[in-house]
Order: sequence, then C-alpha cells, then structure tokens
Amino acid sequence: MNMKYVIVLVIAIAAIAEGAEYTVGDDMGWMVPPTPDYYTTWVSKYHFVEDDSLVFNFPQGIHDITVLTEEDFNACNMTNPLVQFQEPGEVTVSATGTFYFTCSFGEHCASGQKFAITFASPPLPPSPCPSPTNSAAADRSTESLPFKFVSEKMSN
Ligand SMILES: *[C@@H]1O[C@H](CO)[C@@H](O)[C@H](O)[C@H]1NC(C)=O
Repeated sequence: MNMKYVIVLVIAIAAIAEGAEYTVGDDMGWMVPPTPDYYTTWVSKYHFVEDDSLVFNFPQGIHDITVLTEEDFNACNMTNPLVQFQEPGEVTVSATGTFYFTCSFGEHCASGQKFAITFASPPLPPSPCPSPTNSAAADRSTESLPFKFVSEKMSN
C-alpha cells in the first residue's frame, strides 16, 4: 500500500494591497500641539508610502482635516483648501509626493497644527514575471484628488 502524504504549503503571498495605518500625533491625536514642530517630528519618525492611511483623532467641531497647496500651507491660507474633512477619520493617500495637512480652525495652523508629509513609491512585491514595460510611472491621471476619507467618529 502506498501511503501518500500530501503536504500543501500555502504560501500566502498576500502582497498586502492595503497600506499601513498611522495615527497622526500618535496618542496625542490631532490638536494644537505643545510645540510648533510636534507634527513635523511625528512625520519624521516614519516612512510613508503610497496607499498608507492617516488616522486623525479629534473631537468633531473643534478641529478639521484640511489639505492645502504648499504655498497656502506655508502661509496658513485657508481660502482654497484642496480638500477638507470635518469629521475625525482615516485619510488614505493614493499617490506619491508631498501633501500638506493642517486644521482650518482659528490660529491652529500658525500654532503648529500642520505637517508636510511625503509618500514614497511602495516597495515592489517579488514578481515571478518581470514586467518589460515601464508602466509604473504611467498612471499620472489627472482625475480626482488622491484622498479617500473614511469617517471614524469616536463613540465618546
Ligand atoms: C490666500 O489665497 C488666495 C487664493 O487662493 C489669495 O487670493 C489670497 O490673497 C491669499 N491670502 C493671503 C493672505 O495670502
């Protein structure tokens, strides 16, 4: 009699399509920081790549999530935000490049509730069939802004 033992190795190359999730300000959340460079320091602790998500925790109504151009960011000019979210939640950035986040309330921007953040290209997953084309940089479509927002209202 032949006894056959088939060992199936399921190698889950779950080439994680979703990016990592970062809580802005870590435990402190999204607020007017104790020091003006607080969020710049927070950003510098991590390496962000395309499709990563930023979780903004704050009580609705006293802060918001505002994305500006670099020029408006530097001037804390809220006249023409690129995008604005009123509720706490998670912003997924589906693009590479540098983006400028702040809060449009009062003097919060001038007080340091702001950060510039750069998303790099994600590391390429090991591929069995190398692509002959340089298609990676080809999808710079000028569609909508690369921000996906999911509200995560606090229950308290
Ligand atoms: C803010 O930006 C707008 C255009 O978006 C511009 O017209 C205005 O002059 C700017 N304000 C200041 C104070 O720079």
